[in-house]
Amino acid sequence: MEKTLNKYLNKITQGDCLDLLRNIPDNSIDVTFADPPFNLKKKYNSTSDSLELKEYLGWCEKWLKEMVRVTKPTGSIFVHNIPKWLTYYTNFLNKNAYFKHWISWDAPTLPMGKTLQPSHYGILYYAKNIEQNKFYEIRYQHKRCRKCNYLHKDYGGKKAGLHPFGPLISDVWTDIHRIKHNKYRDKHPCQLPLHLLERIILMSTDQADIVLDPFSGTGTTALAAKRLGRNFIAFELDLDYVEIATHKLQQEESSSRIGNIWVSIFLNEIVTIRNLDWDELSKYYLIPKTIENIDHTPILSKACSQV
Ligand SMILES: C[S@@+](CC[C@H](N)C(=O)[O-])C[C@H]1O[C@@H](n2cnc3c(N)ncnc32)[C@H](O)[C@@H]1O
Repeated sequence: MEKTLNKYLNKITQGDCLDLLRNIPDNSIDVTFADPPFNLKKKYNSTSDSLELKEYLGWCEKWLKEMVRVTKPTGSIFVHNIPKWLTYYTNFLNKNAYFKHWISWDAPTLPMGKTLQPSHYGILYYAKNIEQNKFYEIRYQHKRCRKCNYLHKDYGGKKAGLHPFGPLISDVWTDIHRIKHNKYRDKHPCQLPLHLLERIILMSTDQADIVLDPFSGTGTTALAAKRLGRNFIAFELDLDYVEIATHKLQQEESSSRIGNIWVSIFLNEIVTIRNLDWDELSKYYLIPKTIENIDHTPILSKACSQV
C-alpha cells in the first residue's frame, strides 16, 4: 500500500482522476476534497464543462464512489459545488457515508436566471465512519472595525466572557472571500482561496496526514496541505494547470506555523486556529488570556511571526 501511495505523494499528477483514483488503495487517505467542474460552461483548457444532466450526474457518482472507497475509517470527505449539484450528491453519499454538515460558504455566485441571487457555495462534509471520525474544533478571529479595532458585534454586555481569539466556527463561513485581485489569481477560471482549504485541513487532519484532491486545478489543496505540514495527492487533467501548481509548490517554502502550532494565515492575519492549540498559541500573543475590555485589545496578528 505504501509503495502505491508513494508514487503519487506530494506531487501533482496529470491525468483523468477516475483512472488515477483506481490505483489508490481502499481506506488509505485521511481526507478527500473535491471541487469538480460545475457543469456551468466554464472555460477550462481541457474539458467540456457542459454535459447533459444524466451524463454529468453519472460521472459525479463515479468519482464520489472512489472518494468514499479510498478514505480511511477515521477520515472525512468534502465536496464543494453549487447547491443544485450538492442536492444530487447527497443521494449517493447518504447511502455510503455519514452526513456531518452542509457548510455554507458565503460567496456570491453566478445569477442563474429568474431566481434569488445565489450567495453561497456548499461544502458537503461527510465522515467515512461517524464513530471514528477525526475532527478538531476551530476558531476564527472576532470581526473588528479596521480603523478603530472595536468589535463589530454587540454582545449585549457579555464581552468579558468572550474567547480572546474569536468564536468557534459554525457551519456558515462568512469570513473567507473569493480571490478578487488578479495578482493573487492564477490563469484558472475558479481557483479557490488558500485559507478555505487550510481551514478544512486544520479541522479534519493532523500533521503528516494525507489529503487527496482529484480536481486539483492550480493546486490550492496541495499548497494548503504543504503549508500545514500535511502530505497530499493531487490529480489534474490539464497540463497547464499541473505546471502552474507544480511551480507554486516549488516556490512555497514557508510553513504556516506560529512556534510549533499550525495555523492558517492570510495577508499576515491569522484566519483559523484549532481550539486545542489556543493555550500554547496565547503565549505568542501580546494579550492576557482573559480580557477585561476586549474592545480595546488589539488581537495580535501582524506582530506575530510566521516561521
Ligand atoms: C473547479 S476546478 C478546481 C479548482 C481548484 N479547486 C483550484 O483551487 O485551483 C476543476 C478542475 O478539474 C479539472 N478536471 C476536469 N475533469 C477532470 C478529470 N476527469 N480528472 C482530473 N481533473 C479534471 C479541470 O481541468 C479543472 O482544473
